[in-house]
Amino acid sequence: MSQPEANERTLIVVKPGAVARGLVGDILSRFERRGMTLVEVRSQTMTRAKAEEFYSVHRERPFFGELVSSFSGGMTVGAVVQGMDAVATVRRMVGATKSWEAAPGTIRGDLAIGLTDNAIHASDSKESFERERKAYFA
Ligand code: CMP
Repeated sequence: MSQPEANERTLIVVKPGAVARGLVGDILSRFERRGMTLVEVRSQTMTRAKAEEFYSVHRERPFFGELVSSFSGGMTVGAVVQGMDAVATVRRMVGATKSWEAAPGTIRGDLAIGLTDNAIHASDSKESFERERKAYFA
C-alpha cells in the first residue's frame, strides 16, 4: 500500500440545501477540528452550465438533470481542504452517498436528509479533485 500523503488536498462543496439550513459552520469546523486546513474557500450560486461541468462524469446518469437543478438552485460553499491523506480521510468523514445509509458521526449520517440533498460533495480521487477544483473556482 502506498504511503499516505501529509499535505494532500481535496475539494468539498456544501450543497444548497445544507447552506440554506445553516450548516456551513458545523461542516467546515469538522475539518478544522480534525486538524485539516481550509486553503481556499468560496461561496457562489452555480450557473446551470457550471453545475453541468462540475458533475460532467454523471452526464449520462438518469439523475443528472435533478442533480444539476439542485446544485445550481441556491448558494454553495466550496473549500479546498488540506491534510493527511485528505481525499480518503474526508470521504470517510462525509459518509455514504445515500444519507440514510451513512453512519452516525459522519457528516451525512448526522446532517443529511436525502440522496440529491445529501449535504456535501467531496472529491473521490486526486484526479477528480483537480478537475472539480478547476470547475468550481473557474
Ligand atoms: P455526490 O457525492 O455529490 O456525487 C453525485 C451526486 O449525485 C450524489 O452525491 C448524489 O447527491 C446524487 N445522486 C442522485 N441520485 C443518485 C444515485 N441514484 N446514485 C448516486 N448518486 C446520486
